[in-house]
Amino acid sequence: MTHPEQSGLWPENLTVVDGVWRLGGVPLTELAEQFGTPSYLLDVPGLRARAARYRAAFTEAFAPAPAEVYYAGKAFLSIAVARWMHAEGLRIDTASGGELATALAAGVPGADIGLHGNNKSDAEIDQALQVGVGRIVIDSLDEIDRVQALAVARGVRAPVMVRVTTGVHAGGHEFIATAHEDQKFGLSLASGAAAEALARIEASDHLDLLGLHSHIGSQILDPAGFAAAARALLGLRAEHAERSGTLLAELDLGGGYGIAYLPGQHEVDITTLARSLARTCTEECARLGTPMPAFSFEPGRAIIGPSMLTLYRVGTVKPVPVSAELTRWYVSVDGGMSDNIRPALYDAEYHAALVRPSDAGPVQARVVGKHCESGDIVVHQVQLPGDVRTGDLLAVPATGAYGRSMASQYNLLPRPGVVAVGDGAPREIVRRETVADILALDLG
Ligand code: LLP
Repeated sequence: MTHPEQSGLWPENLTVVDGVWRLGGVPLTELAEQFGTPSYLLDVPGLRARAARYRAAFTEAFAPAPAEVYYAGKAFLSIAVARWMHAEGLRIDTASGGELATALAAGVPGADIGLHGNNKSDAEIDQALQVGVGRIVIDSLDEIDRVQALAVARGVRAPVMVRVTTGVHAGGHEFIATAHEDQKFGLSLASGAAAEALARIEASDHLDLLGLHSHIGSQILDPAGFAAAARALLGLRAEHAERSGTLLAELDLGGGYGIAYLPGQHEVDITTLARSLARTCTEECARLGTPMPAFSFEPGRAIIGPSMLTLYRVGTVKPVPVSAELTRWYVSVDGGMSDNIRPALYDAEYHAALVRPSDAGPVQARVVGKHCESGDIVVHQVQLPGDVRTGDLLAVPATGAYGRSMASQYNLLPRPGVVAVGDGAPREIVRRETVADILALDLG
Protein backbone atom coordinates (compact mmCIF):
# COMPACT_ATOMS: atom_id res chain seq x y z
CA MET A 1 0.00 0.00 0.00
CA THR A 2 1.32 3.40 -0.85
CA HIS A 3 0.88 6.33 1.46
CA PRO A 4 -2.80 7.24 1.96
CA GLU A 5 -2.13 10.92 1.35
CA GLN A 6 -0.47 10.23 -2.02
CA SER A 7 -1.62 12.90 -4.52
CA GLY A 8 1.57 14.47 -5.71
CA LEU A 9 2.22 15.47 -2.11
CA TRP A 10 4.76 12.75 -1.30
CA PRO A 11 7.57 11.50 -3.56
CA GLU A 12 6.27 8.95 -6.06
CA ASN A 13 8.39 6.11 -4.68
CA LEU A 14 7.50 6.63 -1.05
CA THR A 15 5.56 3.73 0.43
CA VAL A 16 4.12 3.01 3.83
CA VAL A 17 3.47 -0.68 4.41
CA ASP A 18 2.53 -1.95 7.87
CA GLY A 19 3.66 1.37 9.29
CA VAL A 20 7.13 1.07 7.74
CA TRP A 21 8.05 4.12 5.66
CA ARG A 22 10.31 3.46 2.71
CA LEU A 23 11.70 5.60 -0.08
CA GLY A 24 12.72 3.57 -3.11
CA GLY A 25 12.43 0.49 -0.92
CA VAL A 26 14.83 1.79 1.76
CA PRO A 27 13.37 2.34 5.24
CA LEU A 28 13.53 5.99 6.31
CA THR A 29 14.89 4.81 9.66
CA GLU A 30 17.91 3.38 7.83
CA LEU A 31 18.42 6.56 5.81
CA ALA A 32 18.31 8.57 9.04
CA GLU A 33 20.83 6.21 10.61
CA GLN A 34 23.19 6.35 7.65
CA PHE A 35 22.97 10.03 6.69
CA GLY A 36 21.77 11.74 9.86
CA THR A 37 19.04 14.30 10.27
CA PRO A 38 17.86 16.67 9.09
CA SER A 39 18.36 15.46 5.54
CA TYR A 40 16.61 16.23 2.30
CA LEU A 41 15.72 12.90 0.68
CA LEU A 42 15.42 12.95 -3.11
CA ASP A 43 13.42 10.33 -5.00
CA VAL A 44 15.53 10.11 -8.15
CA PRO A 45 13.23 7.97 -10.35
CA GLY A 46 10.31 10.16 -9.23
CA LEU A 47 12.23 13.30 -10.17
CA ARG A 48 13.17 11.91 -13.57
CA ALA A 49 9.61 10.79 -14.24
CA ARG A 50 8.30 14.27 -13.43
CA ALA A 51 10.85 15.88 -15.72
CA ALA A 52 9.90 13.48 -18.51
CA ARG A 53 6.18 14.15 -17.96
CA TYR A 54 6.66 17.90 -18.17
CA ARG A 55 8.69 17.58 -21.32
CA ALA A 56 6.19 15.22 -22.93
CA ALA A 57 3.22 17.39 -21.93
CA PHE A 58 4.65 20.50 -23.62
CA THR A 59 6.13 18.86 -26.69
CA GLU A 60 2.96 16.87 -27.42
CA ALA A 61 0.59 19.76 -26.75
CA PHE A 62 2.47 22.28 -28.93
CA ALA A 63 3.42 19.97 -31.82
CA PRO A 64 4.01 20.69 -34.65
CA ALA A 65 5.43 23.87 -33.07
CA PRO A 66 8.68 22.98 -31.30
CA ALA A 67 8.64 23.20 -27.48
CA GLU A 68 11.63 22.94 -25.13
CA VAL A 69 11.61 22.61 -21.36
CA TYR A 70 14.29 24.33 -19.30
CA TYR A 71 14.54 23.11 -15.71
CA ALA A 72 14.71 26.23 -13.48
CA GLY A 73 17.78 25.51 -11.40
CA LYS A 74 16.98 28.13 -8.78
CA ALA A 75 14.47 25.69 -7.27
CA PHE A 76 17.37 23.34 -6.51
CA LEU A 77 20.48 22.66 -8.54
CA SER A 78 23.35 20.28 -8.07
CA ILE A 79 25.59 18.53 -10.56
CA ALA A 80 23.66 15.26 -10.31
CA VAL A 81 20.29 16.97 -10.72
CA ALA A 82 21.50 18.92 -13.77
CA ARG A 83 22.73 15.63 -15.25
CA TRP A 84 19.43 13.84 -14.66
CA MET A 85 17.45 16.74 -16.10
CA HIS A 86 19.63 16.85 -19.20
CA ALA A 87 19.41 13.08 -19.61
CA GLU A 88 15.62 13.47 -19.63
CA GLY A 89 15.92 15.94 -22.49
CA LEU A 90 15.52 19.13 -20.49
CA ARG A 91 17.76 22.15 -20.78
CA ILE A 92 18.85 24.18 -17.76
CA ASP A 93 17.72 27.67 -16.81
CA THR A 94 20.27 29.42 -14.60
CA ALA A 95 20.06 32.69 -12.69
CA SER A 96 23.65 33.27 -11.56
CA GLY A 97 27.25 32.40 -12.29
CA GLY A 98 27.04 29.70 -9.62
CA GLU A 99 24.08 27.99 -11.24
CA LEU A 100 25.73 28.32 -14.65
CA ALA A 101 28.95 26.78 -13.33
CA THR A 102 27.00 23.90 -11.78
CA ALA A 103 25.18 23.11 -15.02
CA LEU A 104 28.49 23.22 -16.91
CA ALA A 105 30.16 21.01 -14.29
CA ALA A 106 27.40 18.48 -14.98
CA GLY A 107 28.51 18.39 -18.61
CA VAL A 108 25.48 20.26 -19.93
CA PRO A 109 26.63 22.01 -23.12
CA GLY A 110 26.48 25.80 -23.05
CA ALA A 111 24.00 25.75 -25.92
CA ASP A 112 21.49 23.97 -23.66
CA ILE A 113 21.72 26.57 -20.91
CA GLY A 114 19.88 29.86 -20.47
CA LEU A 115 21.05 32.73 -18.26
CA HIS A 116 18.61 34.96 -16.38
CA GLY A 117 18.98 37.73 -13.85
CA ASN A 118 17.89 41.31 -13.29
CA ASN A 119 21.43 42.32 -12.31
CA LYS A 120 23.89 40.06 -14.07
CA SER A 121 27.50 40.98 -13.50
CA ASP A 122 29.88 41.53 -16.40
CA ALA A 123 31.72 38.40 -15.26
CA GLU A 124 28.52 36.34 -15.46
CA ILE A 125 27.66 37.68 -18.91
CA ASP A 126 31.20 37.12 -20.12
CA GLN A 127 31.23 33.55 -18.81
CA ALA A 128 27.92 32.93 -20.58
CA LEU A 129 29.36 34.22 -23.86
CA GLN A 130 32.55 32.24 -23.41
CA VAL A 131 30.71 28.92 -23.03
CA GLY A 132 28.20 29.81 -25.74
CA VAL A 133 24.98 29.72 -23.75
CA GLY A 134 21.87 29.25 -25.81
CA ARG A 135 20.32 32.46 -24.56
CA ILE A 136 20.82 35.41 -22.30
CA VAL A 137 17.51 36.84 -21.15
CA ILE A 138 17.76 40.62 -21.20
CA ASP A 139 16.13 42.26 -18.20
CA SER A 140 16.91 45.98 -18.60
CA LEU A 141 17.83 48.52 -21.27
CA ASP A 142 21.33 49.13 -19.92
CA GLU A 143 22.03 45.40 -19.99
CA ILE A 144 21.70 45.53 -23.79
CA ASP A 145 24.72 47.80 -24.01
CA ARG A 146 26.73 45.67 -21.59
CA VAL A 147 26.02 42.40 -23.42
CA GLN A 148 26.79 44.08 -26.71
CA ALA A 149 30.13 45.45 -25.44
CA LEU A 150 31.14 42.07 -24.00
CA ALA A 151 30.14 40.31 -27.22
CA VAL A 152 32.22 42.76 -29.25
CA ALA A 153 35.20 42.18 -26.95
CA ARG A 154 34.90 38.43 -27.45
CA GLY A 155 34.19 38.74 -31.13
CA VAL A 156 30.97 36.71 -30.84
CA ARG A 157 27.27 37.28 -31.38
CA ALA A 158 25.12 37.00 -28.25
CA PRO A 159 21.79 35.16 -28.51
CA VAL A 160 19.26 37.13 -26.45
CA MET A 161 15.62 37.17 -25.46
CA VAL A 162 13.76 40.07 -23.90
CA ARG A 163 11.97 39.54 -20.60
CA VAL A 164 8.64 41.32 -20.91
CA THR A 165 6.58 42.58 -18.00
CA THR A 166 3.11 41.77 -19.23
CA GLY A 167 1.17 43.25 -16.31
CA VAL A 168 -0.33 39.85 -15.51
CA HIS A 169 -0.48 39.37 -11.75
CA ALA A 170 -0.47 35.75 -10.66
CA GLY A 171 0.91 33.41 -8.08
CA GLY A 172 1.00 32.78 -4.38
CA HIS A 173 2.63 35.35 -2.13
CA GLU A 174 3.32 38.92 -3.31
CA PHE A 175 7.07 38.24 -3.24
CA ILE A 176 6.75 35.46 -5.83
CA ALA A 177 4.51 37.27 -8.33
CA THR A 178 6.81 38.76 -10.93
CA ALA A 179 5.01 40.31 -13.89
CA HIS A 180 2.94 43.14 -12.40
CA GLU A 181 4.21 46.63 -13.17
CA ASP A 182 5.79 47.93 -9.97
CA GLN A 183 8.58 45.39 -9.36
CA LYS A 184 12.15 44.85 -10.46
CA PHE A 185 11.86 42.26 -13.25
CA GLY A 186 11.54 42.69 -16.98
CA LEU A 187 10.80 45.44 -19.46
CA SER A 188 7.33 46.87 -19.41
CA LEU A 189 4.94 46.18 -22.26
CA ALA A 190 2.67 49.04 -21.24
CA SER A 191 5.38 51.72 -21.00
CA GLY A 192 6.95 50.78 -24.33
CA ALA A 193 10.25 49.75 -22.71
CA ALA A 194 9.92 46.23 -24.13
CA ALA A 195 9.41 47.55 -27.68
CA GLU A 196 12.35 49.89 -27.23
CA ALA A 197 14.55 46.99 -26.11
CA LEU A 198 13.58 45.02 -29.23
CA ALA A 199 14.46 47.96 -31.49
CA ARG A 200 17.81 48.52 -29.79
CA ILE A 201 18.74 44.84 -29.99
CA GLU A 202 17.85 44.64 -33.65
CA ALA A 203 20.01 47.67 -34.33
CA SER A 204 23.04 45.83 -32.93
CA ASP A 205 25.18 43.64 -35.15
CA HIS A 206 26.47 41.63 -32.19
CA LEU A 207 23.12 40.57 -30.72
CA ASP A 208 20.83 37.87 -32.12
CA LEU A 209 17.26 38.48 -31.05
CA LEU A 210 15.67 35.07 -30.44
CA GLY A 211 12.36 36.12 -28.99
CA LEU A 212 10.31 37.16 -26.00
CA HIS A 213 10.16 35.87 -22.45
CA SER A 214 7.56 36.05 -19.72
CA HIS A 215 7.51 34.63 -16.21
CA ILE A 216 4.43 35.70 -14.29
CA GLY A 217 5.06 34.22 -10.85
CA SER A 218 5.32 31.02 -8.90
CA GLN A 219 3.05 28.43 -7.26
CA ILE A 220 0.28 29.29 -9.74
CA LEU A 221 -2.70 26.94 -9.80
CA ASP A 222 -5.04 28.95 -12.07
CA PRO A 223 -4.04 28.60 -15.77
CA ALA A 224 -5.70 31.90 -16.80
CA GLY A 225 -2.56 33.96 -16.09
CA PHE A 226 -0.40 31.85 -18.41
CA ALA A 227 -2.92 32.29 -21.24
CA ALA A 228 -3.12 36.06 -20.67
CA ALA A 229 0.67 36.38 -20.70
CA ALA A 230 0.95 34.24 -23.86
CA ARG A 231 -1.61 36.44 -25.66
CA ALA A 232 0.27 39.57 -24.57
CA LEU A 233 3.58 38.22 -25.92
CA LEU A 234 2.03 37.05 -29.18
CA GLY A 235 0.49 40.50 -29.59
CA LEU A 236 3.83 42.20 -29.02
CA ARG A 237 5.45 39.79 -31.50
CA ALA A 238 2.88 40.67 -34.16
CA GLU A 239 3.32 44.42 -33.53
CA HIS A 240 7.06 44.04 -33.71
CA ALA A 241 6.76 42.17 -37.03
CA GLU A 242 4.67 44.99 -38.42
CA ARG A 243 7.12 47.63 -37.25
CA SER A 244 10.35 45.88 -38.20
CA GLY A 245 9.43 43.21 -40.72
CA THR A 246 11.00 40.54 -38.47
CA LEU A 247 8.90 37.76 -36.97
CA LEU A 248 10.51 36.63 -33.72
CA ALA A 249 11.18 32.91 -33.63
CA GLU A 250 10.53 31.97 -30.01
CA LEU A 251 8.36 32.63 -26.97
CA ASP A 252 9.45 31.50 -23.51
CA LEU A 253 6.48 31.38 -21.15
CA GLY A 254 8.49 30.81 -17.97
CA GLY A 255 7.63 28.54 -15.06
CA GLY A 256 5.42 28.85 -12.03
CA TYR A 257 3.28 25.68 -12.08
CA GLY A 258 1.81 25.06 -8.64
CA ILE A 259 2.14 21.89 -6.56
CA ALA A 260 0.41 20.31 -3.55
CA TYR A 261 1.81 21.16 -0.13
CA LEU A 262 -1.03 19.80 2.00
CA PRO A 263 -3.16 16.65 1.89
CA GLY A 264 -6.19 17.28 -0.30
CA GLN A 265 -4.42 19.86 -2.47
CA HIS A 266 -3.68 19.02 -6.09
CA GLU A 267 -0.83 20.05 -8.29
CA VAL A 268 -1.46 21.61 -11.69
CA ASP A 269 -2.47 18.97 -14.25
CA ILE A 270 0.29 19.80 -16.70
CA THR A 271 -1.10 17.81 -19.62
CA THR A 272 -4.41 19.67 -19.48
CA LEU A 273 -2.72 23.02 -18.89
CA ALA A 274 -0.27 22.56 -21.77
CA ARG A 275 -3.07 21.55 -24.16
CA SER A 276 -5.21 24.52 -23.25
CA LEU A 277 -2.25 26.91 -23.50
CA ALA A 278 -1.34 25.47 -26.91
CA ARG A 279 -4.94 26.00 -28.04
CA THR A 280 -4.87 29.60 -26.81
CA CYS A 281 -1.63 30.26 -28.70
CA THR A 282 -2.86 28.60 -31.90
CA GLU A 283 -6.08 30.63 -31.83
CA GLU A 284 -4.29 33.87 -31.03
CA CYS A 285 -1.75 33.33 -33.83
CA ALA A 286 -4.60 32.65 -36.26
CA ARG A 287 -6.37 35.84 -35.11
CA LEU A 288 -3.18 37.87 -35.51
CA GLY A 289 -2.36 36.27 -38.86
CA THR A 290 1.10 35.17 -37.69
CA PRO A 291 2.56 31.64 -37.76
CA MET A 292 3.15 29.85 -34.45
CA PRO A 293 6.58 30.50 -32.93
CA ALA A 294 8.73 27.90 -31.15
CA PHE A 295 8.03 27.73 -27.41
CA SER A 296 9.96 27.14 -24.24
CA PHE A 297 9.02 26.72 -20.59
CA GLU A 298 10.91 26.94 -17.30
CA PRO A 299 9.35 24.84 -14.56
CA GLY A 300 11.37 24.49 -11.37
CA ARG A 301 9.16 23.87 -8.36
CA ALA A 302 6.80 21.46 -10.12
CA ILE A 303 9.67 19.16 -11.05
CA ILE A 304 11.85 19.11 -7.94
CA GLY A 305 9.37 20.14 -5.22
CA PRO A 306 7.36 16.95 -4.74
CA SER A 307 10.42 14.79 -5.42
CA MET A 308 11.98 15.57 -2.03
CA LEU A 309 10.99 15.39 1.59
CA THR A 310 12.83 16.59 4.66
CA LEU A 311 13.50 14.05 7.35
CA TYR A 312 13.86 15.52 10.85
CA ARG A 313 14.46 14.05 14.28
CA VAL A 314 12.10 15.19 17.03
CA GLY A 315 13.68 16.75 20.11
CA THR A 316 11.67 18.62 22.72
CA VAL A 317 7.90 18.11 22.81
CA LYS A 318 6.09 20.82 24.77
CA PRO A 319 2.33 21.00 25.39
CA VAL A 320 1.34 24.68 25.57
CA PRO A 321 -2.18 25.55 26.83
CA VAL A 322 -3.66 28.03 24.34
CA SER A 323 -7.27 28.20 25.55
CA ALA A 324 -9.71 26.17 27.63
CA GLU A 325 -10.30 23.93 24.61
CA LEU A 326 -6.88 23.87 23.01
CA THR A 327 -3.49 22.62 24.04
CA ARG A 328 -0.98 23.02 21.25
CA TRP A 329 1.89 20.56 21.13
CA TYR A 330 5.08 22.31 20.10
CA VAL A 331 7.11 19.58 18.47
CA SER A 332 10.72 20.74 17.98
CA VAL A 333 12.87 19.29 15.23
CA ASP A 334 16.62 19.42 14.64
CA GLY A 335 16.46 22.03 11.83
CA GLY A 336 13.92 24.74 11.06
CA MET A 337 13.98 28.09 9.28
CA SER A 338 17.58 27.53 8.19
CA ASP A 339 16.57 24.54 6.03
CA ASN A 340 13.11 25.84 5.10
CA ILE A 341 12.63 29.61 5.18
CA ARG A 342 9.39 29.45 3.19
CA PRO A 343 6.93 29.42 6.13
CA ALA A 344 8.61 32.48 7.67
CA LEU A 345 9.09 34.30 4.36
CA TYR A 346 5.87 33.52 2.50
CA ASP A 347 3.53 32.12 5.17
CA ALA A 348 3.91 28.86 3.25
CA GLU A 349 2.02 25.89 4.61
CA TYR A 350 3.48 22.43 4.96
CA HIS A 351 2.39 19.03 6.21
CA ALA A 352 4.24 16.64 8.52
CA ALA A 353 3.83 12.98 9.41
CA LEU A 354 5.24 10.71 12.06
CA VAL A 355 7.49 8.05 10.55
CA ARG A 356 6.21 5.07 12.55
CA PRO A 357 2.88 3.43 13.26
CA SER A 358 0.86 4.80 16.17
CA ASP A 359 -2.61 4.13 17.54
CA ALA A 360 -2.56 7.23 19.73
CA GLY A 361 -5.32 9.78 19.18
CA PRO A 362 -4.37 13.01 17.36
CA VAL A 363 -3.20 16.20 19.03
CA GLN A 364 -2.99 19.69 17.53
CA ALA A 365 0.68 20.18 16.86
CA ARG A 366 2.98 22.89 15.57
CA VAL A 367 6.31 21.74 14.22
CA VAL A 368 9.02 24.23 15.15
CA GLY A 369 12.75 24.39 14.61
CA LYS A 370 15.69 24.96 16.93
CA HIS A 371 16.43 28.59 16.03
CA CYS A 372 16.25 31.55 18.36
CA GLU A 373 13.06 33.02 16.86
CA SER A 374 9.43 32.35 17.60
CA GLY A 375 8.77 32.61 13.83
CA ASP A 376 10.94 29.54 13.34
CA ILE A 377 8.02 27.38 12.29
CA VAL A 378 8.16 24.42 9.90
CA VAL A 379 4.46 23.49 10.00
CA HIS A 380 1.95 25.89 11.55
CA GLN A 381 -0.70 23.35 12.21
CA VAL A 382 -0.87 19.61 11.81
CA GLN A 383 -2.47 16.73 13.64
CA LEU A 384 0.10 14.30 14.97
CA PRO A 385 -0.39 11.17 17.08
CA GLY A 386 -0.50 12.12 20.78
CA ASP A 387 2.42 9.84 21.60
CA VAL A 388 4.89 11.82 19.44
CA ARG A 389 8.10 11.94 21.45
CA THR A 390 11.79 12.73 21.51
CA GLY A 391 13.73 10.59 19.06
CA ASP A 392 10.87 10.11 16.61
CA LEU A 393 11.40 10.79 12.94
CA LEU A 394 9.18 13.35 11.25
CA ALA A 395 8.81 13.64 7.47
CA VAL A 396 7.81 16.92 5.81
CA PRO A 397 6.83 16.48 2.14
CA ALA A 398 7.26 18.77 -0.89
CA THR A 399 10.40 20.52 0.34
CA GLY A 400 12.45 19.98 -2.83
CA ALA A 401 11.89 23.42 -4.32
CA TYR A 402 13.40 26.46 -2.63
CA GLY A 403 14.27 24.43 0.48
CA ARG A 404 17.95 23.57 0.24
CA SER A 405 18.43 26.29 -2.38
CA MET A 406 17.33 28.97 0.10
CA ALA A 407 18.91 27.35 3.17
CA SER A 408 21.11 29.40 5.46
CA GLN A 409 23.53 28.82 8.30
CA TYR A 410 21.45 30.90 10.71
CA ASN A 411 22.62 30.35 14.28
CA LEU A 412 25.62 28.75 12.57
CA LEU A 413 23.73 25.54 11.93
CA PRO A 414 25.42 23.46 9.25
CA ARG A 415 23.11 23.04 6.25
CA PRO A 416 21.68 19.54 5.72
CA GLY A 417 22.82 17.28 2.91
CA VAL A 418 20.74 16.02 0.00
CA VAL A 419 20.48 12.25 -0.22
CA ALA A 420 19.62 10.69 -3.58
CA VAL A 421 17.59 7.51 -3.31
CA GLY A 422 16.73 5.10 -6.11
CA ASP A 423 19.79 5.63 -8.30
CA GLY A 424 21.99 2.79 -7.11
CA ALA A 425 22.78 2.79 -3.40
CA PRO A 426 21.50 5.86 -1.53
CA ARG A 427 24.17 8.54 -1.52
CA GLU A 428 24.65 12.18 -0.66
CA ILE A 429 24.68 14.35 -3.78
CA VAL A 430 25.19 17.46 -1.70
CA ARG A 431 27.21 16.79 1.42
CA ARG A 432 25.91 17.74 4.83
CA GLU A 433 27.89 20.67 6.19
CA THR A 434 29.79 20.39 9.41
CA VAL A 435 30.76 22.93 12.03
CA ALA A 436 34.28 22.53 10.64
CA ASP A 437 32.98 23.84 7.28
CA ILE A 438 31.55 26.88 9.04
CA LEU A 439 34.78 27.51 10.93
CA ALA A 440 36.79 27.07 7.74
CA LEU A 441 35.08 30.16 6.29
CA ASP A 442 35.82 32.21 9.38
CA LEU A 443 39.19 33.89 8.95
CA GLY A 444 39.39 34.99 12.55
N1 LLP B 1 11.78 31.23 -14.73
C1 LLP B 1 12.02 32.42 -14.14
C2 LLP B 1 12.47 33.53 -14.96
C3 LLP B 1 11.83 32.57 -12.76
O1 LLP B 1 12.06 33.74 -12.20
C4 LLP B 1 11.41 31.46 -11.99
C5 LLP B 1 11.21 31.57 -10.55
C6 LLP B 1 11.18 30.23 -12.63
C7 LLP B 1 11.37 30.15 -14.01
C8 LLP B 1 10.76 28.98 -11.92
O2 LLP B 1 9.54 29.12 -11.27
P1 LLP B 1 8.85 27.84 -10.60
O3 LLP B 1 8.42 26.91 -11.71
O4 LLP B 1 9.84 27.20 -9.71
O5 LLP B 1 7.70 28.39 -9.84
N2 LLP B 1 11.55 31.35 -3.64
C9 LLP B 1 10.15 31.36 -4.01
C10 LLP B 1 9.97 31.18 -5.50
C11 LLP B 1 10.70 32.21 -6.30
C12 LLP B 1 10.59 31.96 -7.77
C13 LLP B 1 11.49 32.85 -8.52
N3 LLP B 1 11.48 32.66 -9.92
C14 LLP B 1 9.42 30.29 -3.23
O6 LLP B 1 10.04 29.62 -2.42
O7 LLP B 1 8.21 30.13 -3.39
